[in-house]
Amino acid sequence: MYAVAPAPSPALALAGRHFLKVDDLCAPELRGLLRLARFLKERPGREQSTLLKGRTVALLFEKPSLRTRVSFEVALTHLGAKALFAQGSEFAIGSRETPEDAARVLSRYVDAVVIRTHDHAGLERFARAAAVPVINALSAESHPCQAIADVLTLGERFGEVAGLRVAYVGDGRNNVAASLAQAAVMLGATICFGSPPTHRPSETFLAQLGRLGKPAGGSVRAFSNPARAVRGADAVYTDVWTSMGEERYRERNDAMLRPYAVTEELMSYAAPHAAFMHCLPAHRGEEVSAEVIDGPQSVVFDQAENRMHAQKALLVALLTECKGFPI
Ligand code: CP
Ligand code: NVA
Repeated sequence: MYAVAPAPSPALALAGRHFLKVDDLCAPELRGLLRLARFLKERPGREQSTLLKGRTVALLFEKPSLRTRVSFEVALTHLGAKALFAQGSEFAIGSRETPEDAARVLSRYVDAVVIRTHDHAGLERFARAAAVPVINALSAESHPCQAIADVLTLGERFGEVAGLRVAYVGDGRNNVAASLAQAAVMLGATICFGSPPTHRPSETFLAQLGRLGKPAGGSVRAFSNPARAVRGADAVYTDVWTSMGEERYRERNDAMLRPYAVTEELMSYAAPHAAFMHCLPAHRGEEVSAEVIDGPQSVVFDQAENRMHAQKALLVALLTECKGFPI
């Protein structure tokens, strides 16, 4: 444990909870998690290796992954825990048995379960039946672990997330967009979607974002003109045009989203200091040009690194009482 004054943060009483969507946290909890992530990032090394000593966490992935799988495995190794990985047909929610049965069985073996699945409703069923924390490692609806890393990166780059203007250009209905928007508004940023009407977030979701952002002064705007969405932005974010599991829409998405590609020309509408963000994997020449993603404004590898720090904080918060951190 860390040799610091034992000052458990009341804002971080997350032990035993699930994390399926960003708004499973309230804003003070999200801020507490980010403070813990920064604390752990600044203090790498052996001190961390006792934090989750003796714990076992199952990683169950129905879809491919590089960052999420490896960053969870490395985070767990650094924290002294063991990761058990199963993928593809070995684990698909509801295929061999009900989500409830799988959850009850795994709860007898492991201390937490990290799941990547298309089926968000199945994930919720699994979590309701689980006696241990369940973490969403990406579903069709949300990618909350990515969003914590994204706001951690924004905070590092700009000092504060509150007051930033974050443009999300492209498929405004996907998992990454939804989670980024929730985290950004909860911390007091303005999120500006730039998407064609076919890919614009639903009115219900936009209204939910408005309510979620209100206490911190966060807000949401939606444009169909990409330049208007990006104008004056502190950060410009995009993601693939076709998410995993949505391949049947690829041709339509390519045609509809082509005008929303993040190029140097589109970036010129953003603030001169603007950061370019992408969750990765990226397709150069499609949603982003090589000049932008490989250029000086890009923070995509900081985001990827921060996946590990953010997930360490999440694991410690869900699996311990978070005692002894001055956060
Ligand atoms: N950004 C992200 O989740 O990457 P992976 O799909 O490689 O895990
Ligand atoms: N929206 C993408 C994110 C990948 C990390 C997908 O779901 O495939």
